[in-house]
Amino acid sequence: MNKQSLSPRPKPRRVSPWRLSAWPGVRATTAATTLAVVQPLAAAFALLALAAAPAHAADTPRFEDTMAQRTLACTACHGAEGRAGPDGYYPRLAGKPAGYLYNQLLHFRDGRRQHGLMARLLEPLSDDYLLEIATHFARLELPYPPPARVAMTEAARARGRTLALEGDPGRQLPACASCHGARLTGVLTNTPGLLGLPRDYLNGQLGAWRSGLRRAHAPDCMADIAKRLSPEDLNAVSGWLASQPLPADWHPVARLPQPPAIACGSAILPAGRVTR
Ligand code: HEC
Ligand code: HEC
Repeated sequence: MNKQSLSPRPKPRRVSPWRLSAWPGVRATTAATTLAVVQPLAAAFALLALAAAPAHAADTPRFEDTMAQRTLACTACHGAEGRAGPDGYYPRLAGKPAGYLYNQLLHFRDGRRQHGLMARLLEPLSDDYLLEIATHFARLELPYPPPARVAMTEAARARGRTLALEGDPGRQLPACASCHGARLTGVLTNTPGLLGLPRDYLNGQLGAWRSGLRRAHAPDCMADIAKRLSPEDLNAVSGWLASQPLPADWHPVARLPQPPAIACGSAILPAGRVTR
């Protein structure tokens, strides 16, 4: 590992880690939520401090300078080792394709996805360092918990399954599986799997694509697909996906058997290439 790549991008003006301790809301919350906010913030500070001054790690006894330690700020929200947070919204990071994770870190940092605190955490970090973080999480091999029980009608469940596995030519909707892999476990190196994600998270992402709050590399196929889904179809497919168990082999596949029906900049371009 190249030591220089652990340093932040040289920037004339950088967000000071200290500003995080003045994050609004820390004082105005109950004890329980204060803890929930302060823990990630304390860990966030550790991440920034380390990224800014890796040499200091050697002076600190009992501190193992591993990527797992450096990303404690992340796992405070995303669950131990990035296995997903407990409350059904913080998505899993472990085992997702590295190119996909890397693209998302750039998207948050550069404003194509919205999360203020993550953007501030990522802002001082170089592209190389973000790629290391992405690779770290992509390599983690962790079991998935059983899927959540999702309350939905049998008709909606059947519609969700059809959309995911067969698509709806009448609405120009290719099957989700035609891009996310036959087992829906993702495709290397840039396309994520769709299983093991909570329904709220799936709805949030598809809604953000519809409204333009989430963007990916152009052509942004997911924006088109999310806009073609009616609200009922969106709910049906997210409910069906969230209630599926992971197959025994949950790894992303190496490639698709045939090219997707719609072009996706994110899938085609080398990870990290940025468009606005
Ligand atoms: C305060 C809680 C919090 C912290 C700290 C945090 N995240 Fe997140 N992260 C979230 C939330 C919430 C989302 C979903 C945001 C959305 O709606 O798009 C997310 C989404 C992501 C995604 C996209 C996952 C996907 O499947 O598309 C990645 C990658 C990610 N975070 C990485 C990180 C890394 C790396 C760190 C540490 C530098 C970090 N996060 C720190 C809350 C957090
Ligand atoms: C033409 C190819 C294609 C099709 C069809 C497709 N997707 Fe995607 N999808 C992608 C790509 C590429 C990405 C990665 C985008 C990025 O980098 O943000 C993605 C990302 C996603 C994500 C974000 C996952 C996360 O962890 O945040 C969701 C959710 C999603 N797709 C849902 C669906 C659903 C539901 C369907 C079927 C109705 C579908 N997709 C059909 C190509 C496709």
